[in-house]
Amino acid sequence: MPAMKNIVILISGRGSNMQAIVETAQAEKWPVKIAAVISNRADAAGLDYAAAAGIPTAVVVSKDYPERAAFDAALQAEIDRYAPDLVVLAGFMRILTAPFVEHYAGRLMNIHPSLLPSFPGLATHQQALSFGVKVHGATVHFVTADLDHGPIVAQAAVPVLPDDTEHSLAERVLEQEHVIYPRAVRWFAEGRLKIEDGRVQLASQA
Ligand code: GRF
Repeated sequence: MPAMKNIVILISGRGSNMQAIVETAQAEKWPVKIAAVISNRADAAGLDYAAAAGIPTAVVVSKDYPERAAFDAALQAEIDRYAPDLVVLAGFMRILTAPFVEHYAGRLMNIHPSLLPSFPGLATHQQALSFGVKVHGATVHFVTADLDHGPIVAQAAVPVLPDDTEHSLAERVLEQEHVIYPRAVRWFAEGRLKIEDGRVQLASQA
C-alpha cells in the first residue's frame, strides 16, 4: 500500500471535474486525502460541493491582485499550507506564472478540453467545429511553463457529429473528462507516472 498522498484541487467555477475526482477517490478507496479545494473566485459553485463533502475550502480572489506574480505567490502560500503531493487544476481559468509552475514541477496537472496539441487556449469546442475536425476530445497533462503543452498523461476522443453545437460537443467531451481525469490522478497517487524526455511513462500496477 503506497503512502497516503495529499491532493489540492484548484477550481474557478462549476467544479464537475473536481467532483468526479472526489467521488471516484472515495468509491475506489484511493490512498489519497483531498486536502483542500481552492478557488480564485468566491462565487465558484464547486466550493459548495466541496464544503458539503467536508473538504476544507479556501478562496484567493484573483481580482484583488493587479499583479499576476503577487496573485500566484498568494495562491502558492495557500496551497502549500496543505503540503500537497499533487496540485490538480480542474477548470482553473488562470494562466500561471513560470515561478509558480516551476515550484510544482512534476506535481501540477491540468485538463484541457481538446486533443492537444490541437486547439490550445480558449473556445476549444468552437475551434473544433470551425476546423471541421471529425474527432475531438480532452487531454490530461502535466503543466509546464509552455501553456497547454506539458507532458500528456491521458486523452479521450469523441466523434464530432454533423449536428453538433458548441454545447452538445462540450457535453460529450465533459463526460470523457470525468473518466480520464480521475484515472490520471489515481495513476499519480499510485506512483505510476514518470516523466521522461517530456513524455509520460505509465508503470504497470504493482
Ligand atoms: C472543463 O471542460 C475543463 O476542461 C475546462 O473547463 C471546464 C471546467 O468544468 N478547462 P468544471 O469546472 O470541471 O465543471
